[in-house]
Amino acid sequence: MDKAQAYIRIQELKEIIIEANRKYYVENSPVLSDFEFDMLLKELESLENEYPEYQTADSPTRKVGSDLKTAGKSPKGSGKEFEQHPHKYPMLSLGNTYDLTEVEAFATRASKDIGTGFTYSCELKFDGTAICLTYRDGKLFRALTRGDGRIGDDVTENVRQIGNIPQQLTVPSDFVPTLLQSSPWPDEFEIRGEIYMPWESFERLNEERLKDEEQPFANPRNAASGSLKLIDSRMVAGRGLECTLYHMLGDDLPFATHDEALNAAASWGLPVSDKRHICRSVKDIDNFINYWDTERKTLPFATDGIVIKINELHLQEELGYTSKFPKWAVAYKFKAEQALTRLLSIDYQVGRTGAVTPVANLDPVQLSGTVVKRASLHNADQMKQLDIHIGDYVYVEKGGEIIPKITGVEFSRRDNDVQVPEFPEFCPDCGARLIRDEQEAKSFCPNQSGCPTQIKGKLVHFLSRKAMNVIAGDATIEQLYNKALVWNAADFYELRTEHLLTLEGWKEKSAERFLKSLEESKKVPFERVLFALGIRHVGESTAKSVATCFGNIDAIAAASVEELLKAEDVGQIIAESIRDFFEDETNRETVERLKAAGLKFAVDSKATKLSDSLAGKTIVISGNFSISRDEMKSLIIAHGGKNSGSISGRTAFLLAGDKPGPEKIKKAESLGIEIIDEDKFMTLING
Ligand code: IVH
Repeated sequence: MDKAQAYIRIQELKEIIIEANRKYYVENSPVLSDFEFDMLLKELESLENEYPEYQTADSPTRKVGSDLKTAGKSPKGSGKEFEQHPHKYPMLSLGNTYDLTEVEAFATRASKDIGTGFTYSCELKFDGTAICLTYRDGKLFRALTRGDGRIGDDVTENVRQIGNIPQQLTVPSDFVPTLLQSSPWPDEFEIRGEIYMPWESFERLNEERLKDEEQPFANPRNAASGSLKLIDSRMVAGRGLECTLYHMLGDDLPFATHDEALNAAASWGLPVSDKRHICRSVKDIDNFINYWDTERKTLPFATDGIVIKINELHLQEELGYTSKFPKWAVAYKFKAEQALTRLLSIDYQVGRTGAVTPVANLDPVQLSGTVVKRASLHNADQMKQLDIHIGDYVYVEKGGEIIPKITGVEFSRRDNDVQVPEFPEFCPDCGARLIRDEQEAKSFCPNQSGCPTQIKGKLVHFLSRKAMNVIAGDATIEQLYNKALVWNAADFYELRTEHLLTLEGWKEKSAERFLKSLEESKKVPFERVLFALGIRHVGESTAKSVATCFGNIDAIAAASVEELLKAEDVGQIIAESIRDFFEDETNRETVERLKAAGLKFAVDSKATKLSDSLAGKTIVISGNFSISRDEMKSLIIAHGGKNSGSISGRTAFLLAGDKPGPEKIKKAESLGIEIIDEDKFMTLING
């Protein structure tokens, strides 16, 4: 490669890496495997070393990837703008390697600088999202994400929902207060760690997302980081997140070693892993790595490697940092496990919203402790990209997804009799001609009201726990559908005991129980009824924000795409999908019948009109108020106003509480939109 070619490749690599970082940290939907990413970064690093004249301070080899939302673009699934705060100490990343000899090189380099009298702390590398907690006087004061390493998003309220993070530290039983030291912990310190989602919670969450036809998270790391940035703090509690802490920082900490600091943290009730080991030689480190390379498969959470740290704090200080990494630590990363097996056939499955997904049937093969028979192929584009043929030998990997994915084809083993798979043109279930959605690279069956799988899928979704919460298994719905008793959600509320008794195996008692559960469902709040309607792309949290923004179903049905875009969490695709739903006459009719049956189609009591003082006004809120943000939004609606997530020329005013988002203030000022505080707002609505 000559110099000009190197320049072009450097620019190209930077672009790919920056975009991959954005997909990974901001959108939580990675486009490259960790290994592919790390290899590109290494290639860039070596080119920059060879041509130092092309090194720049903003290169991804020198900067940590940022999880901050970039201006003007909102991350998928998160409309929330978090307050941002600077980190007291920069929050860096770790140098990594897949090669044991490089771990050795790290040790040799370190001993050149600091001699030989030191130890290593070897730990698991937790595969989650980094968090920085500040404790003041023993109380959790603030939680920041890594952000861009200098500034992080304030996710304190969400972190307070994570069960194993103490709000208040506990005094160890052997602590004796003295005049000089009245509490066991420093007045203020930071402790950093990882928020992760154990496998069990991850699998449950993805199963629910698949049922709701929401995109499943690619791996527990993305699930953890997406959950940490949820709009509604209360939803974080249900995500099963956990935390482990691995790095304490503070001014004049009273510890000689990292290990001592972590032991003290554990004694104050902080979650610190006990899977740590003090190693004295490279041999010890190798043993620790080899042990966990096998043993990690038995852990209830994901680990992607081992972190090796110089244990003595004064030596850490002596070694210092680069702009991106500490020189006193390195990560050894495990390679993802792969298996090679034969692709036997491809099934095309129709989902509740009509999306047709190809699923591979494989010759059963062992992979990370389970037998794999099915693998995901995502869509027709991916099948083409892989150039996959039926009969091929294919590589499968468990990227953390519920069903493993096919990552490549072993072309050297391709036989002459392999067949090019043909993506169906017609729905495998009802025979309707499929429609291709270019934006989503997916094919859809358009026969929403006639395709049996879609009808049954929608009915199952309607009754599901997070929707109407009616106790009924899929088999019941199958029975009702087959007897032509239920075609449409509204039919459920017209069922009578005598109808149910015609079903095989049903008795008075079971019929009564089912009808009672349906009756109970009439109390389900509007936001869940909206979710139950099964509008494409409208998941649980979107339904909530749309319900809060518009207050009732008529306002949503009458809203234009532009107006819908004002709701938090709603982008173009979702807004169009809501629009399409209400343009369909059958859907409108179903809603009317459900209304007549007594389901809730307006937000609760608070939606009762209190006044018209805000009629026709669209209001954006930012910051904290004396009441919760949700209550504030309900108050706006109760006084005839609308709540919107983003400021535009049509915003009536910005209601700013304590610590409003600086971006919002800037935007309001630039558009000349009035900013009013809580007191003024209360006067406005009350008088
Ligand atoms: S120590 C100055 N220890 O891995 C950096 N990091 O890929 C100190 N991580 O940014 C970090 N487990 O988010 C440390 N036991 C562990 C870790 C760990 C996971 C994360 C951390 C870091 C990333 C680098």
